[in-house]
Amino acid sequence: MSRSIGVLLLFCFGIIAFSNAAIAKKTSSVDQFTEDNWSLMLTGEWMVEFYAPWCPACKEMEPTWSYLGDMKKSLGINVGKVDVTDSPGLSGRFMVTALPTIYHVKDGEFRQYKSPRDRESLVDFIRSKTWMKVEPVSSWKSPTSIQMTLMSKFFKLSQVLRAIHNQLMDDYGLPTWGSYFIFAVATIIMGALLGLVIVCVIDFFSPPKHAKAVVNKKRKDSSESSQDKASDEDELDENIKDDLVDEEASDSEKQSSKKSSAANSPNARKRKTRKAD
Ligand SMILES: *[C@@H]1O[C@H](CO)[C@@H](O)[C@H](O)[C@H]1NC(C)=O
Repeated sequence: MSRSIGVLLLFCFGIIAFSNAAIAKKTSSVDQFTEDNWSLMLTGEWMVEFYAPWCPACKEMEPTWSYLGDMKKSLGINVGKVDVTDSPGLSGRFMVTALPTIYHVKDGEFRQYKSPRDRESLVDFIRSKTWMKVEPVSSWKSPTSIQMTLMSKFFKLSQVLRAIHNQLMDDYGLPTWGSYFIFAVATIIMGALLGLVIVCVIDFFSPPKHAKAVVNKKRKDSSESSQDKASDEDELDENIKDDLVDEEASDSEKQSSKKSSAANSPNARKRKTRKAD
């Protein structure tokens, strides 16, 4: 009897130990990023690994990465990782084309880690600040930029579409070509709608553009007739005067300021085009 209690106790301890280990593993020193909280890496210094569960090189990398996670206190950095199958938008945002991809992030500046992926190299990368020698990702391709945000949306959208495609095939028993057909039709309709919107937007903004073109044309014509040219010259003189007045803030400002505010911008444009001529 007492023996079975002993076994039971041992069993319980085993479970407790096991669950503790599981918890310890869960609250590991490597932070997991998702699409919702990836921006946390914009503050402080981070090493972030992009991985996928199916990628063998990433599995190989795992112990090294948790080692780096355990070292984070002494290195004074944070260590994170991103599961790209979980957050496809992030792989678009960071232009992850190979796995695993490692980024060094400091105060919103991104640098891709391309050195060997062993412990010593990684630690040295931080300790000796080797990352300073690496060119940061240009602002154009920076994960925080608008175009990369757009890219992440496309990646997300593509995953949603793939999910729909799979659902159409599995749940509705549609053949592959049927699903493609639906997508083709949807694409055409969307394209037509988008085209319509773009035309409307252009129509909306085109009147001032048209007026500008007319003004430019007029100016070109005027260069042929000497009288017009003279009047144009007068206008230019006035502009220069206006500018001088603005800078000196003399008394005559009051008279000219009335028209200058209205006339300044088109005149400025004219002068620019004049220079270009
Ligand atoms: C980001 O969110 C995920 C899921 O909600 C969470 O597991 C993870 O700990 C968060 N990461 C950070 C760095 O807070």
